Amino acid sequence: MTPYTNTTLTVSHSLTYENEPISDSYFEHKYEWIGGRLCEEDENGPYPLPYDSNEIDRLDLQHYIIRYALNGYFTAPVNFEKVKRVCDVGCGSGIWMMEMSAIYPNTRFYGCDVRSAFPESTCPENCEFSICNILKGLIYPSGYFDYVYQRTLLGSIPEKEWKPLISELVRCTAINGLVELTELAFWLNNAGPHYKIIQEKVYKALEIRGINSRVLNRLPEFLKQAGLVNIGLKIRKIPCGKWGGQIGEYMRDFVMQAMNFYKIFCARQDVITDTDVDEWDYDTEILMKEFEEYKTFATVVSIVGRKPEPLGITIVEDTRMFKRIVKELNSLEYNV
Ligand SMILES: C[S@@+](CC[C@H](N)C(=O)[O-])C[C@H]1O[C@@H](n2cnc3c(N)ncnc32)[C@H](O)[C@@H]1O
Repeated sequence: MTPYTNTTLTVSHSLTYENEPISDSYFEHKYEWIGGRLCEEDENGPYPLPYDSNEIDRLDLQHYIIRYALNGYFTAPVNFEKVKRVCDVGCGSGIWMMEMSAIYPNTRFYGCDVRSAFPESTCPENCEFSICNILKGLIYPSGYFDYVYQRTLLGSIPEKEWKPLISELVRCTAINGLVELTELAFWLNNAGPHYKIIQEKVYKALEIRGINSRVLNRLPEFLKQAGLVNIGLKIRKIPCGKWGGQIGEYMRDFVMQAMNFYKIFCARQDVITDTDVDEWDYDTEILMKEFEEYKTFATVVSIVGRKPEPLGITIVEDTRMFKRIVKELNSLEYNV
């Protein structure tokens, strides 16, 4: 642990801090102030990002950026006339559900997250939030949802956990129901050299936690392996910087807010030292200029699949049984 991360303030003495903790239930967990942000005391806890009102603001800003980029709330071809139950996995502040539940009052929305950043007492009647560590399985029955939605969990899920998690999403989806993963790609495109230096450090810190954000490219394959069909993809670019107008400025602010926290995160994972922290501050100034110079942009990706009717026969593709059957077929040919 670097000396930088030792400049902490314990939560119980910090209630008047201008960046407030987000709910009373934070008392159930152990948190500490690091560099002005409220972080989980256990640096190996399930989620490395802060748990304070600034983080909620950042997630809400992300929501509006993605909604704008996708020109709507979701990508899957969902027919809300028929949809009874929707799940938002890793729902964060609950903003997606809160807005969706007002638009579709006849559908019930279920959100789950490892933290209670969502509204606990005042939420619409057709919304239900629960605490759940999704790496230990979802708390819902099999086939319960017509539509399972999961957004921006790339920075949270260790690489080896993606396949079991997707199996869980599929388990909870009804036959002919839809699963959607919407992700903001971690890397920025057309990035300048200073951004790339910082990005490499962030990747390194994430890798220490087993997180590989490049797994995004494999998510369509994972959905297919989990038995989904009609896999579809939608990719949208989001400008980052003034050069892209108002949305570009929002995206730039969102990235800069993330940078502020990733500095602390990298220090906690011992990827950077005290000296690096100062340089990092310097780099962020240059970053803003680079975004304009290189016309940097971000990418939002939605991947959708449908859970098919069971065929009533064993699916043998890619299994040992498949190989045995192929072998058997081959031997039949020889016998002809
Ligand atoms: C980047 S935020 C996205 C929130 C929300 N999906 C959105 O798009 O606004 C990631 C969320 O995943 C949650 N999360 C991370 N690891 C989790 C886990 N193991 N189980 C449940 N939720 C988790 C975090 O608490 C956080 O709210």
